[in-house]
Amino acid sequence: MPQGGVVLALDRLDRVRDLDPGRWRAHVEAGVTTATLRRRARESGLDFPPDPGAAEQSQLGGMVATNAGGPHTFGHGPVSRWVTGLEVVLAPGELVTVGGPVRRDVAPYDLRSLLCGSEGTLGVVTAAWLRLVPAPDAELPVLARFADARAGCEAVLAVFAAGLQPAVLDFVDGRTLQAAGEGDGEGFALLAEAAGGRDEAAALRAGLVEVLREAGAVDVVAPEGRSEVEELWRWRSGLTYAVIAARGGKVSEDLAVPVERLDEALAGARAVADRHGLESCAWGHAGDGIVHATFLVDPADAAKLERAAAAAHDVVVLGYALGGTGSGEHGVGLVKRDAVASRTPDALLTAQRAIKDALDPKGLLNPGKKLPVAGRP
Ligand code: LAC
Ligand code: ZN
Repeated sequence: MPQGGVVLALDRLDRVRDLDPGRWRAHVEAGVTTATLRRRARESGLDFPPDPGAAEQSQLGGMVATNAGGPHTFGHGPVSRWVTGLEVVLAPGELVTVGGPVRRDVAPYDLRSLLCGSEGTLGVVTAAWLRLVPAPDAELPVLARFADARAGCEAVLAVFAAGLQPAVLDFVDGRTLQAAGEGDGEGFALLAEAAGGRDEAAALRAGLVEVLREAGAVDVVAPEGRSEVEELWRWRSGLTYAVIAARGGKVSEDLAVPVERLDEALAGARAVADRHGLESCAWGHAGDGIVHATFLVDPADAAKLERAAAAAHDVVVLGYALGGTGSGEHGVGLVKRDAVASRTPDALLTAQRAIKDALDPKGLLNPGKKLPVAGRP
């Protein structure tokens, strides 16, 4: 905490206040985990699709505060798309509700969307009303391997051009595959998922297999058995840990670029790593153009950590240079704050500051995070 203060832990606000299966909605407190909500929804044949990939740890309050996403965000959008209302403490300490169990609301300014992703800087979210949907009958993954990143990125565009909408369209580069125990650091993989009714999902999967093969995949597998599918997702969720294990630590970013510039973003991130003398790898959400550009470091190596911080700054700048953003998924906090601010036009920075000052006039809520405090380091 750059300016001292207290940490507010909301994990004991862990009640599902209401889950109304007949009307596809839930009202949950901030400390309810994603896994609990998903389990409860599934018991009623419903689904809450957003899942950042650590469902047992992530809590709804944090998911709202970061507008969390993950692999399924390509098909289902980030958590803000599922929030219809928030219970929030606004300065100087008023408990208010914004929206509620109502699916649409354009009456006042859209504070609900503004609070989603505000990283605790505008108010403290204590509960949320969420939309649910009927759970899909089938979720069928497809894993395609390509000779290199260029071929894989072309295949992503081929999926778009074919008018196919998988729920997931993730990528894993050769060095990440290697860290996960596969291959020699070359190659590239795409992970897609066809979801929906049984026939619909099967037809979509067949379409994906065909398009990915035609786009030059050297290998396409479409596992069917429950245990194989679960194994594939365990592998996907474990990528970040496999990469950490390679050198003991990592600095990982989340720049987002227009999808047609994915290949340039990957090449650019590698050039940044070379410039700073760092080992790197990348994986991410290809369909959303999100690249987890990652620098491998031994956390005990202070000089390397410093180089990794400089490299992280450079990839944030790279995101903007490619017509995208410095953070598409993980948020800004303190680490990316100055790099993001340096690429935000003055007029926008002024508007952002005005919002912060209006909702938090004394600057008590996560001061110094997300947005530089005027006149302070
Ligand atoms: C992932 C996390 C790091 O996509 O966002 O694996
Ligand atoms: Zn991610």
